Amino acid sequence: MPHQITIQPSGHTLTAHDDETILAAALREGFMLPYGCRNGACGTCKGKVLSGAIDYGEFQSSALSGADIDAGKALFCVAHALGDITIECREVGAAKDIQIKTLPCRVHKLERLAHDVMALHLKLPANERLQFLAGQYIDILLKDGQRRSFSLANAPHNDDFLQLHVRHIPGGAFSEHIFNTMKEKDILRFEGPLGSFFLREEGDKPIIFMAGGTGFAPVKAMLEHAFYHHANREMVLYWGARQLRDLYLPQLPGQWQQEYPNFTFIPVLSEPVPEDAWPGRTGYVHEAILHDFPSLSGFEVYACGAPGMVDAAHTAFVQQGLPEDAFFADAFLYQTTAVK
Ligand SMILES: Cc1cc2nc3c(=O)[nH]c(=O)nc-3n(C[C@H](O)[C@H](O)[C@H](O)COP(=O)(O)OP(=O)(O)OC[C@H]3O[C@@H](n4cnc5c(N)ncnc54)[C@H](O)[C@@H]3O)c2cc1C
Ligand code: FES
Repeated sequence: MPHQITIQPSGHTLTAHDDETILAAALREGFMLPYGCRNGACGTCKGKVLSGAIDYGEFQSSALSGADIDAGKALFCVAHALGDITIECREVGAAKDIQIKTLPCRVHKLERLAHDVMALHLKLPANERLQFLAGQYIDILLKDGQRRSFSLANAPHNDDFLQLHVRHIPGGAFSEHIFNTMKEKDILRFEGPLGSFFLREEGDKPIIFMAGGTGFAPVKAMLEHAFYHHANREMVLYWGARQLRDLYLPQLPGQWQQEYPNFTFIPVLSEPVPEDAWPGRTGYVHEAILHDFPSLSGFEVYACGAPGMVDAAHTAFVQQGLPEDAFFADAFLYQTTAVK
């Protein structure tokens, strides 16, 4: 039986089918709630249930704690309504008018960017374009029904090809395929655009971007979008990697720094080796930010990379004054381990 869901504070209403999560129903009806992994692991979709009964679904306790449940919270990506309910959550305006599509694409080029990073350039059918917001991701649909999420590394204005930056995970089902057996002209299928990690253009606060490894991909898209639209906000990118060889495309942010006076690039290496002869910053990338900004109250932060890094940054940045609603993140959860 369908159930009515009311979203507060907007007062929007929608109908959810029995087999649909609250998030899936909202997206189907064109209401964009924040989300990331869509399988109960990242916590991005967390919101409050003001009234009515729900089934919480399956999730990781790191994403929804017992204290969260006691406070009336739930993860809308896995929770189902059991009757009419009212929920409270922030709606993300800008993405809701963008249609999520399932499309085929052709591998146009495989470009090795570093020892363990491959750029995948994908070509859509001749009459198709993908509308998306800078920072969003797509899900590659694998033949066995699994999916793998990858951030779009190109800005929306530059959409002749979709660009993904894929890190090689030894033993990883899809990344091993990309590095070893995928060929140019192979056909893939994907769904997208997805996610609520995109540049909020309406604000004027200075922005701190924090990227770990291939977390640079969506940040690249956001920065290229901002430069293209002549954004004059102050922007700084902290890009963390283990060693110098892990910073793929390092000349690109260096070049932006020369071209745009409102942009600064700070690479941070956590384990430089002697042959790196590294004169720059060392340590964890989020700690470099904490060191450089004694108060984060006047900033917006966009963070992307490994879940541990994103979580540690979130907690520490909020403690250092960053408003909760000024932290935007995508955590690169592994689809094979993210569920349950
Ligand atoms: C929203 C989102 C966006 C993402 N964007 C990107 C992106 O732009 N670029 C990118 O490279 N990845 C990205 N990822 C991660 C990506 O979706 C895959 O999880 C990753 O490529 C591994 O897939 P696989 O099939 O190779 O490995 P799997 O077959 O899924 O994993 C095999 C084994 O390797 C381990 N493993 C998987 N991933 C990692 C890892 N990253 N580090 C250490 N161990 C791991 C797992 O524990 C598992 O046991 C994103 C994830 C999400 C949720
Ligand atoms: S989107 Fe719901 S927990 Fe990640």
